[in-house]
Amino acid sequence: RKKVTIAHLHALRAARTPITMLTAYDYPTARACEAYGIDITLVGDSLAQVCLGYDSTTRLTLDELLHHTRAVARGSKTPLLVADMPFGTYLASPEDAVANAVRIVREGGAEGVKLEGGMEMVETVRRLTSVGIPVMAHVGLLPQRHVALSGYRMQGRDAESAMGVLKSALALEEAGAFAIVLEAIPQVLGSYISQRLRHTPTIGIGAGPGTDGQVLVWADMVGTWQGHQAKFVRRFAEVAKEVEKGVHAYAAAVRERSFPGPQESYEMPKAQWDKFER
Ligand code: KIV
Ligand code: NA
Repeated sequence: RKKVTIAHLHALRAARTPITMLTAYDYPTARACEAYGIDITLVGDSLAQVCLGYDSTTRLTLDELLHHTRAVARGSKTPLLVADMPFGTYLASPEDAVANAVRIVREGGAEGVKLEGGMEMVETVRRLTSVGIPVMAHVGLLPQRHVALSGYRMQGRDAESAMGVLKSALALEEAGAFAIVLEAIPQVLGSYISQRLRHTPTIGIGAGPGTDGQVLVWADMVGTWQGHQAKFVRRFAEVAKEVEKGVHAYAAAVRERSFPGPQESYEMPKAQWDKFER
């Protein structure tokens, strides 16, 4: 498989071939994205909830993100590797964003960064792009702003807010974003924005089937996440059920001494044992 580049993503969009993106948080999940043909691996800041047990992405630090990005970078080589900029690492100024994005690329091994926001992020996206750091934008529902938004709610429901999402997407394309995540917006709006953009691929999560690609959180997709499940999630596997079966069976086997069995135990030559016992 050939290395996935930004040009390759543009070619997929032009060919109307859907782009596949998945989050990964560690070496094994990164290996799966590598081995099973995913186009973009995202070290999402959903890491905060699904791996680290925080109740909000706003708690994730840059150092925590870097630690996980390094592990993902070791496992995912062919997909384009993008990492989320944690809350607070790109908000103060474009300079601050550049300094932190440089760390994510240099220390983490990411090839691009993702950041949340609309018009207010245009200058920052322009700056990052101008110095050669590829930026994936993210509009619609912005999980880092869940408190300001009064929860994880669908965005762009009325004409005015839909226009706001569209204008943000157009401005972010103009600023140089190489792709745009559309989260939790009406499917008609997801399709419309995808068509209105000149060349920038859209990656939808709860934005309907009309976007240029789709992304899901790993733990939602494989069914390991036991918390709240958004409307836009489909579980493509039921790994949590397998984990439960496995843990129960293991503990039962240990307790009844059926594990380990002879084939899981090492032998010693009888002569050596006799000598040892003497
Ligand atoms: O953090 C995340 O997982 C994300 C994607 C789901 C888009 O931002
Ligand atoms: Na995120």
